[in-house]
Amino acid sequence: NSKRLLEMLSAQPVVPVVAVESAAEGVALARALAAGGLKAIEVTLRTPAALEAIMAIASEVPETLCGAGTVLTPRQFDRATKAGAQFIVSPGATMELLDAARSSEAPMLPGSATPSELMAMLEEGYEVLKFFPAEQIGGAAFLKSISPVFPSLRFCPTGGISMKNVRDYLALPNVICVGGSWVAPKAAVEAGDWDAITALAREAVALRS
Ligand code: 3PG
Repeated sequence: NSKRLLEMLSAQPVVPVVAVESAAEGVALARALAAGGLKAIEVTLRTPAALEAIMAIASEVPETLCGAGTVLTPRQFDRATKAGAQFIVSPGATMELLDAARSSEAPMLPGSATPSELMAMLEEGYEVLKFFPAEQIGGAAFLKSISPVFPSLRFCPTGGISMKNVRDYLALPNVICVGGSWVAPKAAVEAGDWDAITALAREAVALRS
């Protein structure tokens, strides 16, 4: 599972983290981001429309690899995969969530923020982890410091990352990609300015080319 997730996420420097108000908005966003080269996206289960949007993206935007984010419970895990989520992202990891992941085909990216949590995830067989909220819990400097201690771990840091600091993260060998909402700003979504979002996606893709 770690290997599959690694393949999925290392294909692009930035995975957009979005919260959508409707299925149609999710589809339009997925299309705009894919047009700019960001095919893997994370739709967070923070809005009532999230599951519907995941379902709509899965059927209407085949080029998008749509994951579900902010998955906190086994029930949400289950509903997200049934809706068509191809990977699951959680800000942390509970025993219940790890159990749900074990009995699912969909790979999970659990969050870890301390050395003990990282050790626990290693024991569970996870080598690709979310690091959230990245800027607040130590940022790129933290990830750099733990790299020699946990050489097999790879991270997708998320939280407080933007074009201002993203290069600090992408320069680290233990970072496979970052997550961020800056590529899909609310104002552009509300204005239906999909071209602006495609342009931000292109700019993100260029970070690693
Ligand atoms: C997440 O769920 O990963 C974050 O809320 C995204 O963080 P950002 O909005 O600071 O990019």
